[in-house]
Amino acid sequence: MERRELLGTLAAGTLALGLAPHLDAAQPATSDPRADYKPRPFALETGLPGLSKEMLGEHLALYKGYVNRTNALLKDLQAAEAEGRATTAVQESRRRLGFEFSGMRLHELYFEALREKAAGPGPGHALQKAIQAGWGTFDAWWAAFKATCTMTGIGWGALVKDPHTGRLMNAWIQDHENAFPVGTVPILVVDVWEHAYVKDYGATARAKYVDAIRPLIDWGVVEKRY
Ligand SMILES: [Fe+2]
Repeated sequence: MERRELLGTLAAGTLALGLAPHLDAAQPATSDPRADYKPRPFALETGLPGLSKEMLGEHLALYKGYVNRTNALLKDLQAAEAEGRATTAVQESRRRLGFEFSGMRLHELYFEALREKAAGPGPGHALQKAIQAGWGTFDAWWAAFKATCTMTGIGWGALVKDPHTGRLMNAWIQDHENAFPVGTVPILVVDVWEHAYVKDYGATARAKYVDAIRPLIDWGVVEKRY
């Protein structure tokens, strides 16, 4: 094995174990203009009804980790491309980019639509008509969405739109990037990783957390995505 391959293999092993120091959550944002995503501000530090400030504070910190690691991976990958490197470590970094970038973007979609005084579903809005066309009633859709959000596994419950047809589907996103129906647009996402609810609800009460989320969903934000 050539030295470069050996180093790549060792680096891939380190990455798999989550030990790579350059991917640490505390990594400062790079000044590289192609890798300069910034954490977006969300006014959630004081908590929301049913979601404690301690839990949301931790959650916002986790979100910043995804932003930092997305930048670090982009910077590493761009350097590898410039140098013509395509080692197994580079390949693993590219695979991990889907996880980190999607984690960043999903958290933004989630936090952006959470509000204490949330707007309710807009009567007559095209999204609400699509929900009625798909499930008959809002409550019937919510029951199916909640069942999606309480599936076994780590990931996200999502309401997505197929832009080719305008139709809606409830979808499950495993981790941040798997099982997502390609080409669909996320309209509403609910984080159901354990860090999103265990601190307040315990590991066995994800359904109570999803119930608490329902009145916090700002449909004014969600409907603009449809
Ligand atoms: Fe999360």
